[in-house]
Amino acid sequence: MNRSSKVLCDKEDRIFACLAHPPNEDGSWDVVHKGFQAAGERMFTSLGPRKDEKERRGEFESITWGLSIGQGQKVCGHMLDVSAYNQELLDTFLLDPNVRRVISTCNSMFRYYFPKLFGDYVDVLHYYHKLTGDPGDWVPPLYEGIWAAASYNNPPNVMTFEHVDQANKANGICPIFSFGDFNAKTGGHLVLRQLKLVIEFPPGCFIFIPSATLIHGNIRIGKNEERGSFTMFTAGGLFRWVAYGGQTEKEMKERDGKRWYKDEEPKRAQAWVESMSQFSTVSSLHTDRVYCNGRKEY
Ligand SMILES: [Fe+2]
Repeated sequence: MNRSSKVLCDKEDRIFACLAHPPNEDGSWDVVHKGFQAAGERMFTSLGPRKDEKERRGEFESITWGLSIGQGQKVCGHMLDVSAYNQELLDTFLLDPNVRRVISTCNSMFRYYFPKLFGDYVDVLHYYHKLTGDPGDWVPPLYEGIWAAASYNNPPNVMTFEHVDQANKANGICPIFSFGDFNAKTGGHLVLRQLKLVIEFPPGCFIFIPSATLIHGNIRIGKNEERGSFTMFTAGGLFRWVAYGGQTEKEMKERDGKRWYKDEEPKRAQAWVESMSQFSTVSSLHTDRVYCNGRKEY
């Protein structure tokens, strides 16, 4: 990958993925990258016991936190298997200035290349807050981050098997931040099998992909190298829970079956059209940015 960012487009010119270099005109990104890694190491080495310490997507350790629904939870809320002790460490990590800069850079890049989807993600957190009646000083799970949840995948050897994240929003976009110290010419590449692409993914860079639909995985790094990754995502279930007024599909059918079959169920057949319309094309990107920048901010 050279120093310019690149987008991947479908045959109708819709942008569905982005390989993004961070802003580094003043050379400060190296400090941010290393600072992020140091904050991650401090957090991870202090963590208390947790469920699923071994990541199912590869042979490395990770921690996942934020909002979810399902997995035994009756209402949408913070993942139940994150202890208060670990949550405090995660909050400290999120408030580190270098971590904040990585997350806010993700926000900016996402807004730049996916302005319409950016609005969906901002809205879902706002309406989640309204529906749950959390106090006014509620802060989103990732503070500035507009996604509802995150996974920190601990170095030194983060190599994911090929997979899709099927619980994420179907047309959603997840940022992946790669960090560590490795030769990106010889390892750590992102593999997108359906597209027949193997992409250099240097430490300190971002890739944004529709992780629910695009099969993705990584190439292993060298023996004495280290690589970690940080990803953010929002579950499709959270979008549905908010769209149904703070209930699941099952609950809505039970409580208000008439409304479900009259208003919601008929939308299903055309949902993919609406989903695809949330992607900008190269030619509509500027107009979409202008339009979406004028939208209400919460
Ligand atoms: Fe993934």
